[in-house]
Amino acid sequence: MTLSTQPYKGARDFYPEDKRVQKYMFATLRSAVERYGYEEYDAPILEPLEMYLAKSGEEIVKEQTYSFEDRGGRQVVIRPEMTPTVSRMVAARRQELGYPLRWYSIPNLWRYERPQRGRLREHWQLNVDIFGVAGVAAETELITLVHDIFAAFGAQPDMYEIRLNHRVLVDEILGAYLGLNESAQHTIGKLIDRINKMDRSEFTGKVIAAIDDTAVADDVVTKLLQILDATSLAELPEELQKSDAYNELSVVISQLESAGIRNIHFDPTVMRGFDYYTGIIFEVSDTDSDNNRAMLGGGRYDGLVGLFGVSPVPTVGFGWGDVTLENFLRSHDLMPELQPETDMYVALVGDVQAAVQPMVAILRNAGARLAVDISGRKLGDQFKVAEKKGVNEVLIIGESELSSDQFKLKSLKTGDEQVLKLSDLVAMFQK
Ligand code: HAM
Repeated sequence: MTLSTQPYKGARDFYPEDKRVQKYMFATLRSAVERYGYEEYDAPILEPLEMYLAKSGEEIVKEQTYSFEDRGGRQVVIRPEMTPTVSRMVAARRQELGYPLRWYSIPNLWRYERPQRGRLREHWQLNVDIFGVAGVAAETELITLVHDIFAAFGAQPDMYEIRLNHRVLVDEILGAYLGLNESAQHTIGKLIDRINKMDRSEFTGKVIAAIDDTAVADDVVTKLLQILDATSLAELPEELQKSDAYNELSVVISQLESAGIRNIHFDPTVMRGFDYYTGIIFEVSDTDSDNNRAMLGGGRYDGLVGLFGVSPVPTVGFGWGDVTLENFLRSHDLMPELQPETDMYVALVGDVQAAVQPMVAILRNAGARLAVDISGRKLGDQFKVAEKKGVNEVLIIGESELSSDQFKLKSLKTGDEQVLKLSDLVAMFQK
């Protein structure tokens, strides 16, 4: 049997050119969030199953986790998200930590999904969470940060859209306003979460089927559709405009708008799949219709830390996936040309491998990242390797170069050649 060279379905190998893209994206994310004072943390990829059963949401636990029994008989899960893990870590040091606590991480996560554009089985996800702030200043800070991260990648506001909703407002709409019982609220909530994956008639058919009282079903559907079509808070019926949830949303939206963030609006179809959200929830979508999956999502979840037996900590956070980010950057032509890690390829002429070492050490100490060709092959072949690696410069060293201190440096990009002394080369890198 021939072994397959393909990676596991829905997961990616990162060849150096792919890893370079990931490194660029992560470095940009890290520097943007650290400018807001967020500190990086990390944790193991395995967690006990019961942690997710407690609060993540049915779909993700029952259908999407990679779970198994370890050799000691414990039920474990490869983390499908970071939020329960970070809540566990905060709970473990609840008293010692300084609040507001600002933490971030870029974990790899595993979900058993059908691989498709924007969705894989393994992805990396920037998680940014702020602990210990009960007021909506936390939501405003995080959404401002999202906006700044986009700017750090060179994105313009018309390339993406920030959509906001509120879990309590959703409960008020489905409960007090539409008068649905708990089971209908639950079913219809899940249907709204998937509204963009079906056509209108399928959606209304399923909503009607979820309502026990057939006499009111048509009226409820009409009212519900009116609300779901709203693109601003002002379009909501008056009785909903009095609630605290409404007020929180309107404060956040107006604060962000006055800070110049205009690609933001209320969207009552934003539901977020997880059960733990308790307040404002938000998603960002790409305006390129090829990228129809949410790029990032998050919200307030005030109850999760408290599940670990400590007093609750109000928390807001979001997760932003690497797959959707890369699609976004490529679709909007924002991916820069990334340089290889190696600055210079050293091609050797003759048996000078030992003799070049002192000079190579001097260059490395000056900051050069260079690879020496130790294959003993012909010069032409050594150049071909440098080209394959995408290295920009080749330095040619043989006995005569070493004794004359005259080295030929050839640019593979432009074809230009220059003759330089060792001291010139050192100066080049020290710059
Ligand atoms: P989520 O909506 O499941 O939220 O994921 C957040 C983002 O991660 C998505 O918008 C998407 O960019 C990316 N993502 C999720 N699943 C996949 C996948 N299978 N393939 C590629 N990308 C994916 C959460 O995970 C929450 N725990 C986020 C959070 C943090 N909420 C509060 N703090």
